[in-house]
Amino acid sequence: MSSAPPRLILTRPDDWHLHLRDGDALAYTVGWSAAQFARAIVMPNLKPPVVDTALALAYRQRVLAARPAGSDFQPLMTLYLTDRTAPQEIARAKASGAVFGVKLYPAGATTHSDSGVTELRHVHGVLDAMQREGMPLLVHGEVTDPEVDVFDREAVFIERHLVALRRDFPALKIVLEHITTSHAVDFVLSQTARDSRGAPLLGATITPQHLLHDRNALFRGGLRPHYYCLPVLKRESHRRRVLEAACSGDPRFFLGTDSAPHARAAKEADCGCAGCFNAAHALELYAQAFEQAGCLHRLEGFASHHGADFYGLPRNRDRIELRRQQWTVPQRLDYVDDGIVPLDAGRRLDWRAVAGAAPQQPA
Ligand code: DOR
Ligand code: ZN
Repeated sequence: MSSAPPRLILTRPDDWHLHLRDGDALAYTVGWSAAQFARAIVMPNLKPPVVDTALALAYRQRVLAARPAGSDFQPLMTLYLTDRTAPQEIARAKASGAVFGVKLYPAGATTHSDSGVTELRHVHGVLDAMQREGMPLLVHGEVTDPEVDVFDREAVFIERHLVALRRDFPALKIVLEHITTSHAVDFVLSQTARDSRGAPLLGATITPQHLLHDRNALFRGGLRPHYYCLPVLKRESHRRRVLEAACSGDPRFFLGTDSAPHARAAKEADCGCAGCFNAAHALELYAQAFEQAGCLHRLEGFASHHGADFYGLPRNRDRIELRRQQWTVPQRLDYVDDGIVPLDAGRRLDWRAVAGAAPQQPA
């Protein structure tokens, strides 16, 4: 048992990578995230995908309408980059004030990525416009080449694509999303350029599952679909390196849950969907990982400061309380269809976020 304090008061965190889904799911997902986070970067991989500003604004309204009474949760919208995205769309997105990034899914890389980019050269005009407008590119950094081993796809993406992307668009803000390997950590650390505000030009989000688990979690006592996400969990040495990066205090690393809800039957299936659902207890999971690593004092920077600074947004003014209190993650939560199994269902955690303890942000 460490000598950690009985409670932690943190600046309210933001989630810089989140899947809220749409329709009936919003009644659940928005409430879970709004209970912990002030803002979230909302992923655009709906069916059909959010490919332009008009669709993003309409989706934003549906998210806002699903907020619990009194919540000031702010969805920060993104566009889904396709081979056909028009460069002019970027100025429209920027001018809307509601779009904060454009997501690159290599076609076929993950859930609902079939409309993604087939060749980066097809989107060079759009990337040019993004660089000019200061619109961040959010990257799912995995190659889709079936010849490449699924555990190597992040490292190969960096070698084959990210190095060139960085060279060809030196002023483009880039977030390498949900990093999982020492290769990604090394790449981020090699990038020292800053934007005109002094913020890093390249950053990375890190999920709780990639901090807490290595790939053995997928096979512990049998096949464990609720630990299957993309990029897939990696070997222990990579987990340690990613954890070290999260705990380093380096502003290039920040919180992004990649909470990706799929109803239970869609996970526990012959061909189960990729995605870990962690939004209902994300902060508790991060606190667990940081405490295990002996760096709880670094949680606030990672969860509440670095992402806002990267995006050039004000840090939140209100706070959230975490109490040292043991509790067990439920086996199932109500969700559309047959409910959802949260990440680490059945696990005992040592921290609990106190609901409603922090004052609302001023409007
Ligand atoms: O595991 C994942 N699930 N990875 C992604 O990139 C997408 C996500 C989803 O939308 O379910
Ligand atoms: Zn994601």
